[in-house]
Amino acid sequence: MLEHTSPGFELKTYLALQRQIVNTALDEHLKSLPLELTMREPVVYALSTGGKRLRPILCLAACTAVGVEPEIALPAACALEMIHTYSLIHDDLPALDDDDLRRGKPTCHVQFDEATAILTGDALLNMAFEVLSEAGCKSGPDNASRWLRVVAIISNASGCLGMIEGQARDLSFEGVKLNQEALENMHRLKTGALIRAAVHVGAVLGGASDDQIDRLKRYADNIGLAFQVIDDILNIQGDPSVLGKAVGTDASRQKNTYPALLGLEPSRAYADQLIGDALRALDIFDNKADPLRAIAQYIVDRKR
Ligand code: IPE
Ligand code: IPE
Ligand code: MG
Ligand code: MG
Repeated sequence: MLEHTSPGFELKTYLALQRQIVNTALDEHLKSLPLELTMREPVVYALSTGGKRLRPILCLAACTAVGVEPEIALPAACALEMIHTYSLIHDDLPALDDDDLRRGKPTCHVQFDEATAILTGDALLNMAFEVLSEAGCKSGPDNASRWLRVVAIISNASGCLGMIEGQARDLSFEGVKLNQEALENMHRLKTGALIRAAVHVGAVLGGASDDQIDRLKRYADNIGLAFQVIDDILNIQGDPSVLGKAVGTDASRQKNTYPALLGLEPSRAYADQLIGDALRALDIFDNKADPLRAIAQYIVDRKR
């Protein structure tokens, strides 16, 4: 589909297969939760279905790009999806964005109640670090320090220097018009940080060189920002039955978004420009980076 990828690479098939691998691994983690556990039902509800699994797939694809079998990064991929899912549950709470629909289903606080949704988010965040530390313990002394580095990267990106700060800004600036620089900084934190971490840890677990890691982080920074620009556009132009979430909500909450600041077409052009920069960052890689190249294009073409 893309001139940047080698002939024969089919993104749709690739994504379906990776999604299946991630979903199977997530199911294994869920199966280990005792049936009588009070939190089992909401955790399974939140994590089991519906998501695109983009962050775990990026993690696996980064590992592939540096020439290593991605299975090694699977625990990190699962942990990233747990953290992302927790962030969505909390993002949808009445105190934050107050949304009723997520991934085509009632949001966690609608399906259960608010307290359960808060605890489900807490549970998933802790589960993520359980999965990461277990992977580190099992990996043997030589690789344990790599896993420790992964824990540091992910906790930094999802914490108050990353996603949490972005979410706090998103909320505190409702109704306050940000300039483009401040909007970009907010988007890089709330969405970009975890996407960058996904690519970064996949590369670290694949044993990437410093130069490869720098390039992959540049790629990730560009696709991460483009991802949120497109999320902003889909909140205006998307079809809720395809998106699995409501549209028009950013405007009604007076959120700072790219379309609100620049207009729809300039926002789309900006996303395209970011994807071009992302693809250029991959210049030093061979066709093992084709999944990353194709995912970059998918981010701007997506309808959900
Ligand atoms: C939605 O993320 C929230 C943002 C960070 C923009 P996704 O669009 O990746 O959501 P799922 O995981 O596919 O539901
Ligand atoms: C969600 O951003 C970002 C995080 C959950 C960290 P948005 O609030 O813009 O995303 P949607 O539109 O609800 O998915
Ligand atoms: Mg939000
Ligand atoms: Mg939201």
